[in-house]
Amino acid sequence: MQNLKLINVVGARPQIIKASAISRAIRLNYSDRITEIIIHTGQHYDKELSGVFFDELEIHKPDYNLGVGSARHGRQTSMMITGIEDVLLKEKPDFVILYGDTNSTLAGALAASKLHFPVIHIEAGLRSFNKTMPEELNRIMSDHSSTLLFAPTNAAFKNLMREGFKPENSPPYTLDNPKIYLTGDIMYDNTLFFSELAEKKKPSFLSDLSLERDKFILATIHREANTDDISRLDTLLKTLSTLAEEYSIKFVMPLHPRTINSLKTKLSSLYNELSGSKYIKIIPPVSFLEMIMLEKSAKMIITDSGGVQKESHFFKKPCLVLRKETEWIELIKNGTAVLVDADPEKIRKEFEKFINNGSGLEYPGFYGDGKTAEFILSEILMMYEH
Ligand code: UD1
Ligand code: UDP
Repeated sequence: MQNLKLINVVGARPQIIKASAISRAIRLNYSDRITEIIIHTGQHYDKELSGVFFDELEIHKPDYNLGVGSARHGRQTSMMITGIEDVLLKEKPDFVILYGDTNSTLAGALAASKLHFPVIHIEAGLRSFNKTMPEELNRIMSDHSSTLLFAPTNAAFKNLMREGFKPENSPPYTLDNPKIYLTGDIMYDNTLFFSELAEKKKPSFLSDLSLERDKFILATIHREANTDDISRLDTLLKTLSTLAEEYSIKFVMPLHPRTINSLKTKLSSLYNELSGSKYIKIIPPVSFLEMIMLEKSAKMIITDSGGVQKESHFFKKPCLVLRKETEWIELIKNGTAVLVDADPEKIRKEFEKFINNGSGLEYPGFYGDGKTAEFILSEILMMYEH
């Protein structure tokens, strides 16, 4: 039998990291049965949001880079669809794998499903139930354009059933007869795999930043709702900076260029003030191994990122989520992550709770056994070979 030809579509930072779990599992277990092709849409293009991950996580360089870059949603997505369609027509893959909920995911879903290439969606079924988030629209449309859907959590699996996906479907699976799976999370695979490596490869990373284990807070902000609404961003940063001063604790903040742009152009005096602060350390985005070092050593994590919320759980750190709602609701139910929105009172109250009583919390294994990528690939192969 011919090798199965898989096309991975990536574009944004978290997708490159997620794709590394699938690439590694192919390399280790299935290199004689699966040929992998990578399309990078070019949604993220700065070295620190893209290239660094290809180098560090040992993923092969993209076979195609569409170089789409930044633009408004419609324009960006349409350029991606055009580029992906051309590659699909040339390569004629057996399957197209998509990750998460970005515009690159949506573009891949539309391009592939309309040409009848079966779509595999990894991280299917997640819902925030807030359609003002671009990601929520991307998730719903990508799931409904997919043939194999891998839901990472119970909640995600149930969301798919609520939307009419049927667990009892039997092969052959098609767009009209899709298969839904409950799996773990491939990002847990990655955390297990890269955690030790991070210690080996980045031994002086914390000291270079003058940080000591358990004596700093890690914070990230990048969501559209938090960066483009300037009064929200202003409130968030002022609240965090006040807490840092009051508790005399350092906050390290690797900020997305989108957040830095908003700060520099719309909140320049606050940006200057924070840049001179003893406690707030704004740094450029870091590599994944560096991020792991920050996450595993922080006292608490404060974020609006989907990935970082989960990683707080993997590393057993309490987490304040700077959003009104989250797709990862098991973290909230568990009480180790709390939704604080951009509400100074809530942020303060939960910060105080975690800083004083943050140890001794329980972090159950919600996200699988660290072998989710292997499971996903074995299911894909089974579908292909039977
Ligand atoms: C995208 C995803 C979001 C994901 C995030 C991961 C969508 C709709 N959003 O958001 O779900 O959480 O990636 O990080 O797909 N920029 C740079 N350099 C780059 C890329 C972007 O400076 O390499 C700046 C540009 O000013 C750009 C802005 O960041 O306009 C936003 O980039 P974009 O890719 O549109 O969305 P993200 O906020 O990165
Ligand atoms: N990340 C990273 N460096 C950073 C910030 C984040 O490597 O400076 C990693 C993080 O560990 C996680 C992923 O990027 O694995 C999350 O991406 P992001 O927060 O951009 O997007 P989201 O998960 O919210 O879609």
